[in-house]
Amino acid sequence: MSSSPSRPQIAKGLEGIYVMETRLSYIDGINSRLYYLGYRIEDLAVFSSYEEVAFLLYFYRLPKKEEFELFKGFLYESRAIPGDVIELIRKMVSRKAHPMDILRTAVSYLATFDPELGVGDREANIRKAIRLLARVPTIVATIYRLSRGLDPIEPREDLRHAENFLYMMHGKIPTEFETKVMDTIFILHAEHGMNASSFASIVTASTLSDIYSAVVSGIATLKGPLHGGAAEAAYYQFKEIGDPENVEPWVKEALKTKRRIMGMGHRVYKSYDPRAKIMKELDAEIASKYGGEPEKLYKIAVKLEEIALREFAAMGRTDIQPNIDFYTPIAYTALKIVPELFTAVFAASRTVGWTAKVIEYTTDNRLIRPLDYYVGELDKKYIPINER
Ligand SMILES: CC(C)(COP(=O)(O)OP(=O)(O)OC[C@H]1O[C@@H](n2cnc3c(N)ncnc32)[C@H](O)[C@@H]1OP(=O)(O)O)[C@@H](O)C(=O)NCCC(=O)NCCS
Repeated sequence: MSSSPSRPQIAKGLEGIYVMETRLSYIDGINSRLYYLGYRIEDLAVFSSYEEVAFLLYFYRLPKKEEFELFKGFLYESRAIPGDVIELIRKMVSRKAHPMDILRTAVSYLATFDPELGVGDREANIRKAIRLLARVPTIVATIYRLSRGLDPIEPREDLRHAENFLYMMHGKIPTEFETKVMDTIFILHAEHGMNASSFASIVTASTLSDIYSAVVSGIATLKGPLHGGAAEAAYYQFKEIGDPENVEPWVKEALKTKRRIMGMGHRVYKSYDPRAKIMKELDAEIASKYGGEPEKLYKIAVKLEEIALREFAAMGRTDIQPNIDFYTPIAYTALKIVPELFTAVFAASRTVGWTAKVIEYTTDNRLIRPLDYYVGELDKKYIPINER
């Protein structure tokens, strides 16, 4: 080990390490704030739309009327996916693959149909990003329809992003309220600093690989329950609890057995995730409007939040608070989005964040290539196999 450097500081989980400058989003994890391009998430959730947020993330400013119409036109007319991609989805559905595995593979296949795949300048990347933004929701809806034995529904060019997604899922035009809920979910998941999947995307893009490959890396990384998979896990957790009455013993048992409460805690937010607050308020409205399953889940979630916060505080952990994944399962249930699809819907939303980050990063690209610190032996004697 004589040639090894002295032991460096190892940033496990890259915690606290900055890898780029960004203008896209800012998370103030102490004061519960999230901004896209300087705009507060609370304002964007109420006054904006996913389409406008997408424009903002690609062009770093809010659109003027005419250019916004052009942007939406290109987005809306790019929604259809090739028949071959539908056939691939059909095959994977018949193998009972998880929607995230199907989505990852379908986006990878979709790349081969893009005539600009190998063109890497900013304008081409924005065009490809918009096509991805348009098509990922179509793939998600197709996965859902085929897995239910239903025919896929072709996208319509005259519907808004969230409206068209729900239309492709369920075959009827959603109400204004349903569209608003879906649009809010899309906006809240659009972009979120240097999260694991965005990092995976820029690592891929930093090798000058293409933007589809970067999105495939993002999808693959989002899949895990410590990241995008948390909402699905939170849903099953609420189902397991079953009733607000059961929350208290359930929490005590979970903490005793060192089980994580899904949808709580965050690497950056050490206060209430502002997106969770927006979702919770929307869920309250959903619960009173819909009753039934969404209301039941909402009551369990509220009680779980109350008891878990109390127990965490007693352990001196006031920093473990609900994150967005805690409160999305209620809204998804109201929109008839099944739990195995939650992460795929998240991926459809985050496609804008991944692609915008890749475009921003590669504008001033540097290959991402960190170091690992070798702790094994050196200069070992090689012994031929029949002498071992
Ligand atoms: C998101 C998460 C991975 C952050 O992890 P982290 O940065 O390592 O968390 P911290 O350093 O703040 O705290 C780690 C400790 O806090 C505790 N902790 C953190 N989140 C917890 C949770 N949701 N439930 C119970 N205990 C939790 C654990 O004791 C953990 O210690 P351990 O590693 O010995 O088990 C973590 O909070 C978690 O697993 N949450 C549940 C999954 C989830 O909701 N993910 C979505 C994030 S948007």
